[in-house]
This record gives sequence, C-alpha cells and structure tokens, in this order.
Amino acid sequence: MNFELLSLSWAKAATLKTDALVVLVSDDQQREVGLLSSMLDQAQKTGDFTSAVGQCMVWWKPPSLAALRLVLVGVGKGCAVDVRQGVAVGIAALKKSKSQTVAVVLQDAHAEHLVVAAQAAADASYVYTATKPSAKALSFKKITLGVPQAGAAQSQFDLAKAQISGVALAREWGNRPANHATPDHLAQVAKSLAKHSRISCEVMGLKEVTKLGMGSFAAVAQASAQPLRFIVLKYKGAADAQAPTVLVGKGITFDTGGISLKPGPGMDEMKFDMCGAASVLGTFEALAQLQPAINVVGLIVACENMPGGKALKPGDVVTSMSGQTIEILNTDAEGRLVLCDALTYAKRFKPSAVIDIATLTGACVIALGHLRSGLYATDEKLATALLDAGERTLDLCWRMPLDEEYAEGLKSNFADVANVADRAAGSVTAAKFLQRFAKDFPWAHLDIAGTAWKSGAAKGATGRPVPALLSYLVGQANARTPATRSPPAKRRSAKA
Ligand code: BES
Ligand code: MN
Ligand code: ZN
Repeated sequence: MNFELLSLSWAKAATLKTDALVVLVSDDQQREVGLLSSMLDQAQKTGDFTSAVGQCMVWWKPPSLAALRLVLVGVGKGCAVDVRQGVAVGIAALKKSKSQTVAVVLQDAHAEHLVVAAQAAADASYVYTATKPSAKALSFKKITLGVPQAGAAQSQFDLAKAQISGVALAREWGNRPANHATPDHLAQVAKSLAKHSRISCEVMGLKEVTKLGMGSFAAVAQASAQPLRFIVLKYKGAADAQAPTVLVGKGITFDTGGISLKPGPGMDEMKFDMCGAASVLGTFEALAQLQPAINVVGLIVACENMPGGKALKPGDVVTSMSGQTIEILNTDAEGRLVLCDALTYAKRFKPSAVIDIATLTGACVIALGHLRSGLYATDEKLATALLDAGERTLDLCWRMPLDEEYAEGLKSNFADVANVADRAAGSVTAAKFLQRFAKDFPWAHLDIAGTAWKSGAAKGATGRPVPALLSYLVGQANARTPATRSPPAKRRSAKA
C-alpha cells in the first residue's frame, strides 16, 4: 500500500480525482463555503447524517464532485480515539467497492491525529493471505491523507509510514501459524532486516547459547524438534559511544505449556506467544525506515515450549546465565525462563535502558483486559516516557507495582528462586521474577498478553506495542540530540 500526504481544503477535496473521498466531520465542524459543505448541510438537515462517532453516509457519483464516491464519517468531538474509529468505519464502508485510490480528508484539529488516522487506515486495509489463498487482498492501492498544510505535517507523516510498516510486519508474523513461523523463520526475518544499511544481525543456535551458559533458555527448548534461535539485532543511528536501548522480545513460537500442559480449547492462540519478538522485528523495520539518531539493540529468544520425553519436568532445577539456579514448578511459566537469560545477556551492551516485551501471563489479561498493556519499571523516567508514548499513539499501557513483598512466593527450598508463586497477582510475580535478572540497568517490562492479539471473530495479531516502542525511541532520539530535532523537520517542510 502506498501512502501520500497532500494539502487539502474542502474546496480542493471537491475537485480531487479519486475513487473515494472520505471526509471526517466533527460536532463543531468548521464549514468552508462550497460544495462539500452544502452537501453536508443537506444530509444533516434531512437527518441522513449526524456527526456522532462512527456515523457514516456513502454517496455514489456525488453530483459535481470529482470523486467517484463520497463517504462522510462522524468523529464526534474529534479526539484521537474518535478519529481512529471514524477512519476505520470510512475505510470499511469502501471494502466492497473496487476503489483503488482513497483520500481521507482531515481538517483542522483532526490533522494533529495524523499518525493515528494513517495507522487506522492501514489497519483497516490489512488482509491476512499467507496461508489463506482464498482471501482476496483489498483493491486499495493508494491512500492519500489530506491535511490543511502538508508541509507542517511531513515529519509526522514520515513517522506514520514507518510505524505502519512496523505494525504490519509484527501483525503478519504474529498471525502466521507456528508451523509457518518457527524460531528459524523469525531468524530469517531478522536477517532480511539487516539488508538495511544501519542494521546488523547475528543469529545463534544451541551450541552458542550453551556456551553462553543460558541454561534456562535452553531448558525450555529441549523437547522441541525445532531448534532454538537467539537473535541479536543492532540498529546504529548514533555514535558508538552512545549507550543503546535494548529491546528484548519473548519469541515462544508455540506454547503448549510443556509437561504442565495447557487445556485444549483455545490452545491455537498460543501461536501468538511470539508477539513480543514480532514487536521487536516490527520496531526494527520502522527504525530502518525512519532512521532516528539513536542506538538500539534487539534481542529475541525464540523456541517452542513442548512436552515429550526430553521435556523439562516440574521440580527440575536449571542454571541461568546469571548463575542463579531456578526450580521449575510449572513448565508453562516458560516466558520468564527464556527472558531471564536474555536480560543477563543485555548487560554487556551497557544499555541506557532495557525494555522486555512479552505475552507473559494470563493474569495480566484478567487485570487489564485488552485495552492496556501492563507496564512494570524500575526507573521513573523510563516509566513516564513509555506511558506517554503509549498515550500519544493510543497504544496504551498501565503502570503496575513491583513491591518487594510480591517476591515472597518465589522462594524455593531447592534453588535460588522458583519460576512461579501462587495464583495471586500472577502478572506481578512474573515481573518480580524477571527483576532479579535486571538489576544492572534501568528496566521496563511490558506484559502484552491481553493486547498483542484479538480473539473471537476478529482473531488476529494487533502489531502492538510497536507504536508505543517506536514513539518512545523517537522521543529518546530527539531528547538526546536536540540539534537534530528541528532541522530535519524544517528541511522537509521547505521541500513540500
Ligand atoms: N504465554 C502464556 C501467557 C498467556 C496465557 C498469554 C493466556 C495470553 C493468554 C504464558 O507462558 C503462561 O502460560 N503463563 C502462565 C503462568 C502460570 C503457569 C504461572 C499463565 O498465565 O497461566
Ligand atoms: Mn506458558
Ligand atoms: Zn508463554
């Protein structure tokens, strides 16, 4: 899909040759004198259209407009969530048309939600086809975003395009079934990202992982026929001296639970247990496009969690890379077992911050549902920056506690730590386990178990939290090198 940015007033939109024109209308919509305004007035007078969020009216061959179709969509007060829903409804209304070119007109206050609007348009036009040949890709070829002043919006538009590519990659790999998205497939994706000049990639197997002493990670993988992969991605956008941000992704390509086997119903959804890893891949895709002035390392721990004759058993004790021994009381708490070794590995980069992203606990879904990801952090600035990035992108997070008392249940008579506590506060105790391995740097943990995919009729990966991660990283780049903050924007707007 191509995206284009254009300066569009309503008057100009009326003369735009396009297969479909989607016009967002808010409650206090400023009218410009002209065709579109008078059509809107009439439709509102007859009661055929109101500006309530999601209200939608489609004209075919509207008289005197250059567009073949006109879609009016209500966006209520016009805040970011309303704009997101309005765009989704507008694009959905065109799905059965054969429209190839679509222009979405964002006037006035809507234009500040350009990234959200563009992402909504991209999300609504995504179709999964990799293992479903009968699914037809939509007819859309180009989506134009019309704003009052394209020049002023150019840097936001660049961000939007990068984010859209990153989310698309994360969604696509999240959606692919486990037999089409093995640890080695993820490694291939990472390697192909290294075609970009600023990205490099190293892929390790069991031999290297064993040599590193990652006994906890290796133990989770030991019953699987698919070899594990430890993937190290590097994005270099700043001087070597600048400490990198490290992203760590949980890449369990299928989670059966192991010997602590999961119940059958819904187990297919455990193909999504690599969505943390997919979000790291997606963020790197976005970094490659946007090229912000920051260094980022991506670590992906990828393997399957399987039962079998070689499988880890409840009661087994493994030795992590940190030297800490772990008593495995439940083989289904495998995410923390792969992540802990990656966190220990992260230390070698002397990172400014480490953020792990994981579909870690069902308990987080109980706590927060599907709206907000659970955010844990040992550093206030990091927590605030991630929360803000989430609000900006509508990729929402919610701060969760790390009181030491929550670690009580992780005590073991046979190892330094147990991998599970009792059922209470399961998302928090998982985070407390990880914290033991993240003592040497500012650390944050995103539990995305409720937000990385949708169940039911809309079953599918969401691409979250790529928007929040990218927004956080871009924010860091701007804060660290203020000199590069405004000039690129000025240069770009001069061109437009
Ligand atoms: N991948 C799951 C977490 C999960 C479960 C995410 C359901 C989304 C929906 C994780 O590996 C897991 O199985 N966690 C266990 C931990 C428990 C054994 C302490 C869980 O949440 O049940
Ligand atoms: Mn599990
Ligand atoms: Zn899991």
